[in-house]
Amino acid sequence: MGVTLITGASSGIGRSLARRLARSGEPVALLARRQALLDTLANEIESEGGRALPLACDVTERTGVHEAVRRVEAALGPIERLVANAGGSEPSLVDAFDAAQIERLFALNVLGVAHCIEAVLPGMLVRGAGHLVAMGSLAGRRGLPGSAAYGGAKAALTNLMESLRIDLAPRGIDVTLLLPGFVRSDPSRASRHDPWLRMELEPATHLMHRAIEERRPRYAFPALLALALEIVALLPPRLADRLLARALRP
Ligand SMILES: NC(=O)c1ccc[n+]([C@@H]2O[C@H](COP(=O)([O-])OP(=O)(O)OC[C@H]3O[C@@H](n4cnc5c(N)ncnc54)[C@H](OP(=O)(O)O)[C@@H]3O)[C@@H](O)[C@H]2O)c1
Repeated sequence: MGVTLITGASSGIGRSLARRLARSGEPVALLARRQALLDTLANEIESEGGRALPLACDVTERTGVHEAVRRVEAALGPIERLVANAGGSEPSLVDAFDAAQIERLFALNVLGVAHCIEAVLPGMLVRGAGHLVAMGSLAGRRGLPGSAAYGGAKAALTNLMESLRIDLAPRGIDVTLLLPGFVRSDPSRASRHDPWLRMELEPATHLMHRAIEERRPRYAFPALLALALEIVALLPPRLADRLLARALRP
């Protein structure tokens, strides 16, 4: 079974996905900044019979990502699958519009993924096989209230991955774009979103794991929210803006 490298594995969706991927028998390299959390997860995976390598790494640091990939391949072998999950959001407030926030969220959600792809892709191209998985968001489908920096970054990531998907298909490399709506990634915390807008962590991870295993090109969920956003995107812009402002007030 090939090696999977997953970023943002110390908490939330990444942690949950890493456990599922490891249970299917693939060795997993776990990347994030918080080493202690990665060590705990690696111990859990190994105690269940899996194989895991925890490595502290900041995905916004290009050379650090390349070094981490070198260490993973030396220890476990060639990386067959990248799950670029590390990311984060912050609300954007018009009264405190801050280009530094846009830079920060693009650095994490776009460049962080690009650094990982840059480090793993040459080996995949030589082998003529591989799988790139990126964690986008339904927030990247269309501008949403209070989401200028985060939504903008995830929209850029969506476009980047779609472009790569076209270019890499004839080279034997699959690309999967995961587009969750709202996932309660910390089950100990209450969610401010209506139940039809959000999913709990475990069912959401189950669906994403299946989409990864099936190497789907794109997987957007929950279905109702994904469909609603597609419909809203077809409406005249002023009407769509008003509906979204009312439904998703930050
Ligand atoms: N939850 C949702 O509703 C939702 C919806 C759509 C999309 N998403 C996307 O899903 C992904 C995971 O989100 P989550 O909800 O599970 O959030 P989370 O619990 O905050 O997890 C984020 C993960 O990314 C890691 N990370 C953050 N900055 C990093 C950096 N500079 N370098 C390396 N790792 C970094 C964090 O680990 P460290 O702090 O240890 O580095 C953590 O493991 C994100 O890309 C997010 O945008 C989430």
